[in-house]
Parts: sequence; C-alpha cells; structure tokens
Amino acid sequence: MIRRCKISISATSITERTARSSRPAPAALKIEDLQVYYGESHAIQGVSLTLERGILSVVGRNGMGKTTLCNTIVGLKDARAGSIRVYGREILNRDPHEIHRLGVGYVPQGRRCWPSLSVDEHLRLVANKKRDAIWTVERIYQTFPRLAERRNNLGTQLSGGEQQMLAIARALMAGPRLLLLDEPSLGLAPLVARQIFAAIRALNQERRLTVLLVEQNAYQALRLAHRAYVLVNGTITMQGPAAELLGRPEIRAAYLEGGA
Ligand SMILES: Nc1ncnc2c1ncn2[C@@H]1O[C@H](COP(=O)(O)OP(=O)(O)OP(=O)(O)O)[C@@H](O)[C@H]1O
Ligand SMILES: [Mg+2]
Repeated sequence: MIRRCKISISATSITERTARSSRPAPAALKIEDLQVYYGESHAIQGVSLTLERGILSVVGRNGMGKTTLCNTIVGLKDARAGSIRVYGREILNRDPHEIHRLGVGYVPQGRRCWPSLSVDEHLRLVANKKRDAIWTVERIYQTFPRLAERRNNLGTQLSGGEQQMLAIARALMAGPRLLLLDEPSLGLAPLVARQIFAAIRALNQERRLTVLLVEQNAYQALRLAHRAYVLVNGTITMQGPAAELLGRPEIRAAYLEGGA
C-alpha cells in the first residue's frame, strides 16, 4: 500500500516536471486591459499588448499616450486597472526601483543628461561594480565609439545624437533584459536618427536585448521592429508584424506620406 503510494507520487512529479519544462517561457512584457487616468482624463483606454522577444514598436502621434504607457510600465504613473507582467511577474503599480531590479531599463523622452557631468562621470556614476556585470564602461565605449571620443565632454557639450547615445548607455549599465525607449529620435536630424535606430538594432541582434520602442517616427520604427502596435487616443487601433503594417495603405496615408 505504502509502496503504491510512493510510486504514484513520483509519477505525478515526473508528469508535472515534463509539463513545466515544455511550457513556453513567459513573454518579456504582457499588458492586459490597462486603464490609466489623469484625474478624469482617460489617457490609456484598455491597452493590451505582448512582447515575446525582439523589438516591438508602439507608434503614435503627439498626445496619443506613448509616454503615459511607458511611465506606467516602469512604475512612475499609477494605473487604475489592468495587468502588466514582466517575464511572468505582475508589476502593476509597483515601486519603480523594484521594477528596475527586475531588469526593466528606461530611456525617457528628452534624454535628460546631467549638464555638469562628463560622459565618463555619467557612466561611472551608474556603473555596476560587480565582476560579472554585463555592461562595463569599457564595453560601452566599444559599443559606442563616439562616446569614447567624447568621454571628457560635459552633458551640455554633446550633440542631440550623442546625448541620446549617452542616455541609452546609462540605461544599459544596469544590465536590463528589457529596454524601453521613449521617442529616441525626437529632435534629431534624419541621419542621426538612423544611427540611433541602427544602434538599437545592434543591441537586439548582438546583445539579445529585448526592446519596446515608442515612436512618432513611424517609418523608422516600423522598419526596425519585428512587431508593432498603433496607438490612437490611448487605444490600440492596429497591430501585427511591422513589415506588414508598413505596407498597409491606411498606415502609409496616416503616418508615412511625406516620408517620415
Ligand atoms: N501630467 C499630466 N497631467 C494631465 N494630463 C496629462 C499629463 N501627461 C500627459 N497628459 C495627457 O495625456 C495624454 C497622453 O499624453 P502622453 O504624454 O502620454 O502622450 P505622447 O503620445 O507621449 O505625446 P508626445 O508625442 O507629445 O510625447 C495627452 O492628452 C496629454 O495631454
Ligand atoms: Mg511622449
């Protein structure tokens, strides 16, 4: 009797283990029915999206809710309802430090470099001192040679593109698994914006970084991304493989005419 019981327990645990190992890995980011308000103004109205891995773009014009969405993911803005899971963990309305510790990096809109610190000081201030840190200051300089050339320049002595590189580098120093970028091309000349997008692509391809890119520059964002969502007045109106969205006439008419 006792023996039979033992066998049955072990058979169950093998079944459970097999089921667990064949279960797909949780998505890097899964948002369900997110509701965010400013007072009575309903800024995010039931957004749901999934980023398994790779690069996901959310494109939308001014005031559509892109920054609100990013701020809510990283805990800087509270949601009224919904769910945000990062690698399977619920993070809705958690403390920003806790979300950061789970491996979520954020490059906010407007870059916000410290004017009185040099590039090198920026990086050393946030450097992870652990021996096994994924990103060191030297590795940042290898990845962004322009920052190495400007290592002694202050924040105010950098071009817009260099400031954006520094803002990305600063976020990388914490070793994120998932990086959110809010309009990295904002205010940059087209050539410089393309360099920033190329750097983001390299981070995904060479460093396996998962990226959520929020952009108004729909053409570049759709060319870069694997999948994309269109955000209009706090609501997702279209989604799909980015290459497919890029070819849709309604996207071309609304976002790409005139060659963004
Ligand atoms: N702090 C705030 N208080 C009240 N309303 C706000 C606040 N921040 C944003 N909003 C409103 O919420 C909506 C979404 O704004 P949000 O900044 O998220 O848009 P966005 O897509 O990032 O725009 P942009 O492209 O201009 O950066 C807008 O109607 C905006 O006016
Ligand atoms: Mg914004």
